[in-house]
Amino acid sequence: MAIAAEVGTLRLSDAVNRINVSPTMAVLMEAEKLKARGVDVADFGPGEPDFPTPEHIKRAAIRALEENRTKYTPTGGIMPLREAVCEWHAKNLGSSYTPKECIVTAGGKLAIFNVIASLINPGDEVLIPSPYWVSYPDIVQFSAGVPKFVATLPCDKFCLRATDVEKAITPKTRLLIANSPNNPTGAVIPEGEFARILEVCQRRGIWLLSDECYSHFVYGSAKPFSIASLPGAKDSVIIAGSLSKTFAMTGWRMGYALAPEALVAAMIKLQSQTVSNVTSVTQYAALEALRGPMDSVAVMLAEYDRRRAKIVSGLRAIPGVECTEPQGAFYAFPKVPARGGKGVGDSTVIARELLEHEHVAVVPGAAFGAPAHLRLSYATSIERIEEGLRRLTRFFSGAAA
Ligand SMILES: Cc1ncc(COP(=O)(O)O)c(C=O)c1O
Repeated sequence: MAIAAEVGTLRLSDAVNRINVSPTMAVLMEAEKLKARGVDVADFGPGEPDFPTPEHIKRAAIRALEENRTKYTPTGGIMPLREAVCEWHAKNLGSSYTPKECIVTAGGKLAIFNVIASLINPGDEVLIPSPYWVSYPDIVQFSAGVPKFVATLPCDKFCLRATDVEKAITPKTRLLIANSPNNPTGAVIPEGEFARILEVCQRRGIWLLSDECYSHFVYGSAKPFSIASLPGAKDSVIIAGSLSKTFAMTGWRMGYALAPEALVAAMIKLQSQTVSNVTSVTQYAALEALRGPMDSVAVMLAEYDRRRAKIVSGLRAIPGVECTEPQGAFYAFPKVPARGGKGVGDSTVIARELLEHEHVAVVPGAAFGAPAHLRLSYATSIERIEEGLRRLTRFFSGAAA
């Protein structure tokens, strides 16, 4: 019997039918098509650093190749790397994990996927602060879990509040995902509030999964902070980390999870039946990133800070646009009016119109659960930010391009 494989008749699993292609990828692809045709796109789309991976990290990868470190590795990562993750996290973020409580994953995304797939049963509820990173709801739905959104508000700098977490908990709630600094809002949860959120999770018996992907990109007087540094946190906290943004290594696919040993063992079991291990050469590069100098991180942070000031003031100067000052990460998340500056904007329409009429690439806020907002990445040069702001001003003021 033939298996129908034509488009439209192919019978797919319920699990894969429950999820969508990442909408941020869709926008990037449209912008790439225009660029390939030679169009000058002001691109605020990319969720990745515009800096190259630091030289010393690249050299470590080249050395690994020359030394033929090109074979399978242990599923959870080479032991020196698991040690280095724990040491780096302890030194920079004040935790106290051992290598058995650490798994190396293909990016932070796979760390989050492994956690959810290891903990969530059909019908389990997962609390997701909204606006949210696009992948959380899909990853939860893949496991037949139920995403439950906890609103965060621009008037409160999009800060997640312990009282709102507590109100959203039901007998079916299994886990809360916290993401500070936040993609897309740039919100940073103050340490005191984070501690209260942890206290709620512990009292109500739910896991706190903390996505620390942007941990080192915080502005002003804030310092990188991990909820795992608090006494007694480790039993109920899971850390998902990534080298993608901190070390400008998005393409290398290197992340990790830190969690109680039994959960790490489950994730290693899962990983043994999927990716097997993170690319061997990436692991040696990551070892250098974590053990080597961190000067490049400070350089990137200072530059993002300059760009943040430029983009926030530029957006606020456009009539009808409201922009909260991001406290971390590298995104601005303004609330915008419709084209021409009148009425309430529908971000999906606006993003399409912006690309079409002004060749400006942004990600519609609808992808993050906030349909009146746009996400603009400022991981792009000051000159490109200025050019993009000129076009955005023209678009929202109603002047023709
Ligand atoms: C909030 C957040 N978490 C996790 C990730 C995953 O990053 P990666 O898989 O490249 O480590 C991203 C990437 O954009 C992100 O924005």
